[in-house]
Amino acid sequence: MPIKSFTQKFCIATALLVIGGLTACGGGSSSTTTTNPPPPPKLGQAAAAHHIKVGAAADSFYLSDASYSSILGSEFTQLQAENEMKFATLHPAATTYDFSGGDALVTFAQGHSMAVRGHTLVWHNQVPAWVTSGNYTSPQLSQILQDHITNVMQHYAGKVYAWDVINEAFNDDGTVRDTVWYDQPGIGFAGQGTAYIEQALNWAHTADPNARLIYNDYNDEWMGPKSDAIYAMAQDFKSRNIPLDGIGFQFHVDLSFDNPNALASVASNFQRFAALGLELHITELDLRLSDGSAASLAAQAKLYGELAAICVQQPKCTVFQTWGLTDKYSWIPGFFPGMGWALLWDANYQKKPAYTSVLTALQ
Ligand code: G3I
Repeated sequence: MPIKSFTQKFCIATALLVIGGLTACGGGSSSTTTTNPPPPPKLGQAAAAHHIKVGAAADSFYLSDASYSSILGSEFTQLQAENEMKFATLHPAATTYDFSGGDALVTFAQGHSMAVRGHTLVWHNQVPAWVTSGNYTSPQLSQILQDHITNVMQHYAGKVYAWDVINEAFNDDGTVRDTVWYDQPGIGFAGQGTAYIEQALNWAHTADPNARLIYNDYNDEWMGPKSDAIYAMAQDFKSRNIPLDGIGFQFHVDLSFDNPNALASVASNFQRFAALGLELHITELDLRLSDGSAASLAAQAKLYGELAAICVQQPKCTVFQTWGLTDKYSWIPGFFPGMGWALLWDANYQKKPAYTSVLTALQ
């Protein structure tokens, strides 16, 4: 219909300008009400209705980067130290503890009403040379590990609600990994499978009875030999009341993961662990690409959204955490040469398509 009069033109222009407002034109009285549309929810807000904490691995060194700290403090409801609560950082010498980095992260989290997840107490990496080259006997190593778990967990008691007590203790074929804590020489349970993990969980429970105790690994996301072995351990522990509260699934993946079989396998795997009464934590999600093209970012967004949807659809999935927040500080380029673009914000802190797909899936 042609626009005939100034009044009609004015009304149309006004209607376009007043977003969300109501403008009455023509004949009789007129009133104008303007309401701003509500801002889109942040990731953490969106997921709260599903009782999911949305986390990011963080480093205290980056908190002075204003864009980094602004996004971390507003979008996320949980943080986890990417490195600063590991053995080598916290306990650099036999009688020396350095809580400075971890404490800075806890202070930031408390100031932004965020939960803190602890990572990690028993791992074969980032163990200091004073432990690995100390020629300790198993009884001595046992004392060292128990003291470490006790001191660290008591330092963070009431501040860290969940700990990756054990990290990456299995090989991909489901056998127990040879490590300084297991059998080289180990804390006294060499050749006894998961007995040393059980010991660590018992020590952790004694140190902080309120903390949730998690077993965390990679390549355990789908059904396979590794997740089968972790499942058997979890089933055994639950049947004997060993204090295990949940399983961490790291999800350092690439686009090859985006196929129906893999996604169905993740959902089935989650369900069998959930049936044991365990919490499921997506702990280290990042989705690496070999280029930052629009097509790759769109494919990445699709898979990120699918993984977030799996968590939303599984009631026992209570953590959705990415391994960092910006491509600027991601570990991927350093470990996978030529790859990157793995997180929800690019290196200039612009939201990527994956941000939107995750937000949509979490709502
Ligand atoms: O702190 C030193 C610094 O002093 C030195 O100048 C610099 C030189 O390279 O290295 C710094 O240490 C690095 C450390 O990260 C802190 O930035 C190490 O070289 C580097 O190897 C270390 O990488 C970390 C890696 O764990 C170690 O295995 C990554 O940042 C961290 O993202 C990664 O996280 C692991 C999880 O804990 C467990 N699951 C897998 C995940 C990815 O590998």
